[in-house]
Amino acid sequence: MEKNNIEKEINFFNGKTNLQEDNKIILVTGGAGFIGSNFIRHLINKYPNFKVINFDKLTYSGNLNNLTTLEDNNNYVFVKGNVSDPKDVKTTFEQFNPDFVVHFAAESHVDKSIINPNIFLETNVLGTQIMLNYSREYKVQKFVQISTDEVYGSIQENCNVGEEGSLAPNNPYAASKASADLLLRVAYQTYGQRVNIVRACNNFGPYQFPEKFIPIIITNALQNKEIPVYGNGINVREWIHVEDHCRAIDTIMQDGKSGEIYNVGTGNKWRNIDLVEHILQKLDLKNDLISYVLDRQGHDIRYSVDSSKIRKQLNWEPQIDFETGLEQVISWYKNHLDWIEEINSGEYAAYFKEIYKPRMMDTD
Ligand code: NAD
Ligand code: TYD
Repeated sequence: MEKNNIEKEINFFNGKTNLQEDNKIILVTGGAGFIGSNFIRHLINKYPNFKVINFDKLTYSGNLNNLTTLEDNNNYVFVKGNVSDPKDVKTTFEQFNPDFVVHFAAESHVDKSIINPNIFLETNVLGTQIMLNYSREYKVQKFVQISTDEVYGSIQENCNVGEEGSLAPNNPYAASKASADLLLRVAYQTYGQRVNIVRACNNFGPYQFPEKFIPIIITNALQNKEIPVYGNGINVREWIHVEDHCRAIDTIMQDGKSGEIYNVGTGNKWRNIDLVEHILQKLDLKNDLISYVLDRQGHDIRYSVDSSKIRKQLNWEPQIDFETGLEQVISWYKNHLDWIEEINSGEYAAYFKEIYKPRMMDTD
């Protein structure tokens, strides 16, 4: 990418030479996505002295509308770039010389990865290696990898997996994230880079792209559309509000011991079908919107993490109880129908058809 393609606020760097000790430059990749945009808002609100660079390729799930409130903020700058393109990454490190890198950028949807795994390897594996290479060259203080509990694969009933659990991914997305985690291990072991890996359970919250389960439930229900439930609906997921995840990442970025992995969870687990019925009940709607569809291939039955390490060692714990979080998110989607409308009018509509048409048992 040519330098002049980089959208940079001219005055962004004013003051870098006068930085006080607690001033930090944080390079956030994938900051136009769901968790990344919530994390950027968290940083900007909490640390008036931090400068945040959002480096994002703006794929289908990247949306600058997620960050409109920050457009005029001098501590925030957006750079359009691709983590798998060394030129884009190098130019950004040269220009901003970040203190910390928090690496969210990824292809993030399991169903998509089953259809087209290649881009998952390119972005999630190669992209992570390129980010690590330049972080080393530019002597970044800490590289925080946003991984996922899906790297552990399906967890047996009555068990929670700890950080020492084996990597046993069961779909291309999870395999690409597990591979990236191994590259982090290598960066630490071989090159002595300061790194952390964060493995959170399923997130929900404002700005989540409607391909994921909770937004699908809410947005379809609000539009009186069928809610697709894969298989028999008994798969279990553990849910965390995105703001609790963001607080955990912040804590790990600042206090995590280098080389360590931290699971982030709540213990709040739901069978998919129970969750759909619960949300429908909250919306005063009947269960007849539920439509059982063909199962996902290799569908993990159950995710469940042991998050005692971050709780004991870093004093983090979730603050948003599930019911409160769910009600907040339902109102958020109700108040952002234009946000959904815009997504539905783009390529997402075609994707929705591609994924769900063959799944619908009743349709020909
Ligand atoms: P998302 O799909 O909403 O956002 C991904 C962002 O990355 C988008 O803004 C996209 O434009 C950007 N991106 C994609 N490819 C890129 C590339 N080549 N270069 C630069 N930017 C690129 O995803 P999300 O749900 O916010 O997930 C963010 C991270 O958190 C991912 O690494 C994911 O594996 C991890 N994670 C997600 C969850 C969850 O429940 N959503 C749970 C645990 C971990
Ligand atoms: P998802 O949000 O895709 O997250 P992940 O697969 O990474 O956990 O899916 C959460 C659960 O919901 C998972 O068990 C698959 C299921 N699911 C459905 O039943 N219907 C859907 O339309 C989607 C997207 C997911």
